[in-house]
This record gives sequence, C-alpha cells and structure tokens, in this order.
Amino acid sequence: MPRELLTISAGQCGNSIASQFWAQLCAEHNIGQDGVDLSLATHGGTSLAPLETGPTEAQPVGSRPGSRASSSSLASRVEDRKDVFFYQADDAQYVPRAIMIDTEPRVITAIRDGPFGGLFNPENIYISREGGGAGNNWAKGRACGEEVYEQIFEMIDREVDGSDSLEGFMMLHSVAGGTGSGLGSFALERLNDRYPKKLLQTYSVFPDTGPNKGSDIVVQPYNSLLTLKRLVQEADSVVVVDNGALGRIASDRLHVQDASYSQTNQLVSTVMSASTAPLRFPGYMNNDLTGMMASLIPTPRCHFLVTSYTPFTSNDVLNSKTIRKTTVLDVMRRLLQDKNRMVTVAHGARTSCYISMLNIIQGDVDPTEVHKSLLRIRERELANFIPWGPASIQVALSRRSPHVQTSHKVSGLMLANHTSIASMLEKSVEQFDSLMKRKAFIDQYKREAFFEHSLDDFYEAREVAMQLIGEYRACESPNYLEYANDKPA
Ligand code: GTP
Ligand code: MG
Repeated sequence: MPRELLTISAGQCGNSIASQFWAQLCAEHNIGQDGVDLSLATHGGTSLAPLETGPTEAQPVGSRPGSRASSSSLASRVEDRKDVFFYQADDAQYVPRAIMIDTEPRVITAIRDGPFGGLFNPENIYISREGGGAGNNWAKGRACGEEVYEQIFEMIDREVDGSDSLEGFMMLHSVAGGTGSGLGSFALERLNDRYPKKLLQTYSVFPDTGPNKGSDIVVQPYNSLLTLKRLVQEADSVVVVDNGALGRIASDRLHVQDASYSQTNQLVSTVMSASTAPLRFPGYMNNDLTGMMASLIPTPRCHFLVTSYTPFTSNDVLNSKTIRKTTVLDVMRRLLQDKNRMVTVAHGARTSCYISMLNIIQGDVDPTEVHKSLLRIRERELANFIPWGPASIQVALSRRSPHVQTSHKVSGLMLANHTSIASMLEKSVEQFDSLMKRKAFIDQYKREAFFEHSLDDFYEAREVAMQLIGEYRACESPNYLEYANDKPA
C-alpha cells in the first residue's frame, strides 16, 4: 500500500525549493518534464522499474555511455514507487501531488513558464488576485490565508480525497517573510484541525541570523517567532533549514562565495530527496515517514530536526570537482561534523547532545561495514548523546534511484534531534527582543485585524520559543525526565 505525501509550498522560498525538489524527483523517477514515464517511452511499453518483471541487465534509460554497470542491474531490482509523490492522469502522465500557493505571481509564473511548466496541475496553483505579496508581514500573510481559505482547502481536500492512503503533508516555506510564514502558519493550524491524524511535516527555512546576514528583512525576527509558535503547536516534525548554514556550507565546503538561491536550494532539495528515498525506493527496510519520525521524536515538543548531508558534489550544486573516496565510516564521520550541519551551531555549545539520530546511507554498502563504523564511532566517542535515556545512531540503508548517476559509492543523510537547536532559537529571541523593546515596525502589524486590539500573540510566541529552548536545554541534563513529567503534554 503506497503511503502518499502531498507537498504544499507557500511563498517565494517555499515555491523556489519546491520547483527544484520536483525537478529532482522527476530525474530520480525517470519522469519527463511533461510527466511522461521515460522508461515506457523508450521501451515500447515495458517499464524498467518493476522488481520481478524487469530485464535483469537492462541499461537504465538516460544513463550515459560508460556509466557504472552496477547501476544497470540495479534498475531492474529497485522498486520505483512513483506513487508516493505522483499520481497518474487519465492519459497516464504523472502529476505531482503538489500544491503551490503565493500572494504574488513571480516565482510560480516562472515555474509555469519554465521547462517543468506542463508537469503541474494548474488547478493546484493558487496566486492571490491582488498579487502584491504580503510585504514581509506575517499578519498580512495570515490575513490572506483566512481570506482565501476556501480556495486553498478546496485544492487540498481534492488531493486528499484523490489519494488511496495519504500519509501526510510536507509544507515548504520560509519563516521570515510574509506569505510562507503567515499564510503558512494559518494553513498549518487548519490542516491540523481538519486532518488531525495525518502527519504534518515542514521544511522550514530560517533566516541567517549571523553577522554577515546582509540585506535580509528587518522584521524577520517577528515573523520567525510568530511562525515558530505554530511549528511548535501544529506540526509533527520540522526539518530546520538555516540559510546561514547553507551559505556557510556553500562557501566553506563547496567554495562558492555568495551562493545564489538556486544553488542553496539544490542543497535543500538533495536533503529532501535523500530523506524520502527510503519511501520512494524501498528495499532493505519498509519505512514510512511516520515510523522514521517516531524514532527521532521521543518527546512531542522537541520535534525540530537538523540535517547533514555528505558528500555534496557537482551533481548537486556546481562544478566542484572534489570527489573523494567514500566509505561508510567516512560518510558517517562527516555527518557528525558540525561544519556539515545545516543549522549553525554556536561555538562553545559545551553540553549540547543528540537526542536521537537516523543516518540514511545510500549506495553500494555492505551491512557489516555499517556495524564496524558504529563500533568505531562509539569507541572514539564521536557523538555525544543525552544522559537520560538510551540513544544511539540508527541506520537505514536505502537504495538509490537507478536513473541518476552519482560519482560516489556511498552518500549519507543525517536527520537528528540535537539540543544545539536551542542556540539558534536563542538568537532569534534575542533579535526579537531588540526590536520589540522599541516596538520597532510594529504599526504595520497593528494595521492587520489579527493584531488590531492586542499584541498578545507576539508575547505568546516569545513564551513558546522560550519554553522550547528550556526544554531542549533540559534534555542536556540527566534529570530531564523529571522536568518532562512536570509539564503538560
Ligand atoms: P512575502 O514576499 O512577504 O509575501 O512572503 P514570502 O513567503 O514570499 O517571503 P520569502 O519566501 O521571500 O521569505 C523571505 C526569507 O526567505 C528571507 O529570509 C530570504 O532569505 C529567504 N528566501 C527567499 N527565497 C529563498 C530561496 O529561494 N531559498 C532560500 N534558501 N531562502 C530564500
Ligand atoms: Mg514573496
């Protein structure tokens, strides 16, 4: 039984990431820009992907001459679950289970006019009529969400009803602007009301809070905390993407200064693709997303996940030619290094530790190597875990798409629940406080009905952030369970 996922992208950042993610999914599932199954197109009706029926030594469609032989036999063995993210229209073309929402037309129009323009169902796109955007104002984005609630949920309900067994939603957005943050917050609240049993996962892009943050938006600390409150209260799991860390990875690891959004979004898209690979190319383990998340989130409020991925290469971003030898141990070691983490970690975070960790290892892997690597990591004490419960590195071996060539034997994604997220949140609260103590720019929020009579939601959002920071800090102490028992769920 497929467990389908529906993506909902909102705002500039969300839709820009969505467009790269969907292009990557098409490549990995051998689907053309117009939704045609390319395996069928070239094989006169015989799909390569099925487990039993595929010819054993068939060359994967789209592979370049001289590509690795192992991948050709792989194509016949790997089950290709296109239906997790796509459904088939009456003419057999694949259509993404995707909804795109914005309050201004630029990004979505570019997607429509671009090479993948014919892929998406036009009925799943919502651009508000006024088209002026939410002007980096959370309250304005939220108001727009309320206004167009019916149209948005007409699209969502249709997609839910059209799937066999929807597992949940993946929302893509930034927390710092107006639309992805405000309209996104509103959508999360309503999704949770309407579909309380479905998994609600977000990929939430946090702004760069570092000293080199450039010309980013002044009111983003307001928008970030207002959104954070909803991420805490409504979402089941939040994959935190920190624009500061993406920029640092691009410059330090890939030697690209001032990376463009399309370059950093490629990093995000690679992470999203790897984290869903066990669902799309099942084999070694029959994971579903709910199971994966349950293993990472032992305590309901602490559901903010950080990621690392290695190795990023030319396929992912640019023409960086730093291809190295990759073994399971190398990959697992690198995943543990702060510099590869897509959330900036404050230096001197002495007691920070892992609450849980799942490594998704892809490639040509002998399971005994995994076992040896885990032993080595333990011997060397390379990872610091919580002192109050059993925690260890979980490993999922995942197949790769047989349709995409990679230059590495092994690659890995770490999804982890790590207490250092508290330091990123502390920074956001600090920046929020410095604006709020002067009530800077608050008038534009008061002009919206949501804040017309009171600013309470600002203070509540700050309080929720402080509680979350407190809880992550408490996780670093051996007495955490006592702390948790004293708190309402
Ligand atoms: P409004 O434009 O105010 O209606 O809201 P929006 O949701 O469209 O805003 P946007 O997504 O532009 O949010 C601004 C924040 O997102 C800033 O912190 C930007 O740095 C970041 N951002 C915008 N586009 C991208 C992108 O394509 N990739 C990444 N990683 N960050 C982005
Ligand atoms: Mg915008």
